[in-house]
Amino acid sequence: MSERKIIFSGIKPTGIPTLGSLLGAMSHWEKLSSDYNCLYCVVDMHAITIRLDPAVLRDNGRNMFAWLIALGLDPEKNILYFQSNVPAHAELSWVLNCYTYAGELNRMTQFKDKSAKNTDNINAGLYTYPVLMAADILLYQANLVPVGEDQRQHLELCRDIAERFNKVYGDVFTIPDAFIPPYGARIMGLQNPQNKMSKSDDNANDCIYLSDSPDEIIKKFKRAVTDSDNQIKMSEEKPGISNLLTIYACVTGKTLAEAEAEFADAGYGHFKQSVGEAVAQTLAPYQKEHARLMSDIANLDAIAAKGAAKANEMAAKTLLKVKELIGFN
Ligand code: TRP
Repeated sequence: MSERKIIFSGIKPTGIPTLGSLLGAMSHWEKLSSDYNCLYCVVDMHAITIRLDPAVLRDNGRNMFAWLIALGLDPEKNILYFQSNVPAHAELSWVLNCYTYAGELNRMTQFKDKSAKNTDNINAGLYTYPVLMAADILLYQANLVPVGEDQRQHLELCRDIAERFNKVYGDVFTIPDAFIPPYGARIMGLQNPQNKMSKSDDNANDCIYLSDSPDEIIKKFKRAVTDSDNQIKMSEEKPGISNLLTIYACVTGKTLAEAEAEFADAGYGHFKQSVGEAVAQTLAPYQKEHARLMSDIANLDAIAAKGAAKANEMAAKTLLKVKELIGFN
């Protein structure tokens, strides 16, 4: 193996990615493969902490897997696979459970939030979710993990578990750092530009899904919340307009200043229409590639199987070491 650093990311197969995740993260992943060894794992095992129809889970997983490729991740240059296809994740997770304190898991804010929201299904998987996540990362000796704010605490716990284990058994695991990429725009909701664009929002118009049709996209941009002073410029007092300018700049490759200049004399109606059209145009080739991939499931499954084989090989090394050190026969 080369000296290149390893990047690991887990992606939950919860529906379709948004324009926010595309511009904020995913559109930049492709470039990383020239400097790092990258693994992208569709974390279907993490997905079952809530009840899902098997057909929905399977379909969501394939869709997300296809999006990763459609957005430019070359399966020859990156390791792309499903978590459930690599048994080492579950095996290491059990071991790490025994090196994680209930007190630590009790402090996880995501567990507290999620269990407050789903009082009828506070299962043990939800509780030990961060331990499986630690296993994901540590199995591959990952150096860097791209995570959003909401996953920071889980990554901290992963580091604590790894350090605890290393203290007992020697240098087994690489201690991972958060990867804060030098790029990535923070895209806000269209209806609620104070908050990050996210799919959990109740208002469907807040968020652009990568699969939205040109008509839907333009309609959503036309309804985007702005303000009433009719000036198209970046300003903290103008979160809606600033967000639209940011999106426009991202999808056209122009600078913010160029975008401002272009619409200096325009009205909001024309501006919103232009942003919508630019986004629709940017998404079209990705959508076409996604549709092409989804039209040949056998091919997609074959790509996933190859990815899993590579991941298995890497993971098996770490797992074997752990088993021996612990004293398993
Ligand atoms: N918990 C992450 C999320 O909700 C997904 C995830 C699972 C992950 N395993 C990971 C992210 C390992 C980074 C590394 O988004």
